[in-house]
Amino acid sequence: MRIVLLGAPGAGKGTQCKRIVDRYSLQHLSSGDILREQRAAGTELGKKAQSYMDSGGLVPDEIIVEMMIEAIKKTPEAGFILDGFPRTVNQAIELDKLLNDSEQDIDVIINLLVDSRIIEERMTGRRSCPKCGAVYHVKNLKPKITGVCDKDGTKLIQRPDDKPEVVANRLKTYHVQTESLVDYYKNRRTVYDFDANKSADEVSGLIFEKLDALVEA
Ligand code: AP5
Ligand code: MG
Repeated sequence: MRIVLLGAPGAGKGTQCKRIVDRYSLQHLSSGDILREQRAAGTELGKKAQSYMDSGGLVPDEIIVEMMIEAIKKTPEAGFILDGFPRTVNQAIELDKLLNDSEQDIDVIINLLVDSRIIEERMTGRRSCPKCGAVYHVKNLKPKITGVCDKDGTKLIQRPDDKPEVVANRLKTYHVQTESLVDYYKNRRTVYDFDANKSADEVSGLIFEKLDALVEA
């Protein structure tokens, strides 16, 4: 199964992806996580991406497309779920080219819809594990021990781009550069919308119901 997950910053893409990959044994490919890994490792790619990420803008398409194509090529047969890529129509076109070349296609497109008043609270309260990428929230999805990852005991961090002024820019970037991608896909394929204002468990319940039905069909 090859899935694309769409949604604004803070909609819960990372949170839902972790649950989906556990249930369907897919590879989670988050462009944001890969960029953060590259930055932590001090690579050329990480250095190039830094200023765009810190300001809340998009990293240029040519850098992202090359990085994601490389990651997709390495995924196992069982399939993948893309989180944060594509983010522009141009990136979607490049993804289609890659899949067409290997006679593959996107099987499911999931779009998480969330109200803007909820997004800010989600992003400012988010805490992440720098080692395994697990995502928590200080109120909504607490770890068992405050500030510590349940999975590997690593100290949780707040993402630098979750500062209020950067959050505002990321939302602006989403509206200007990414929202039109949803229409692009809706004109070409079936896009499944989910109300992501609900709790994380309710949202995953709805997604699993849909994916189970599609797998059976
Ligand atoms: P990226 O890391 O992809 O950030 P994003 O799209 O802004 O999305 P987030 O990771 O902030 O949110 P999310 O939807 O994953 O929400 P989460 O599950 O964490 O990208 C970062 C940067 O990299 C970009 O700004 C850009 O510069 C660059 N970049 C990445 N991809 C690119 C591309 N393709 N092209 C160009 N540039 C690119 O949840 C948020 C919080 O809410 C958490 O605390 C969570 O616990 C909580 N939560 C989640 N769901 C619920 C729920 N249902 N109820 C209550 N709380 C919830
Ligand atoms: Mg994320």
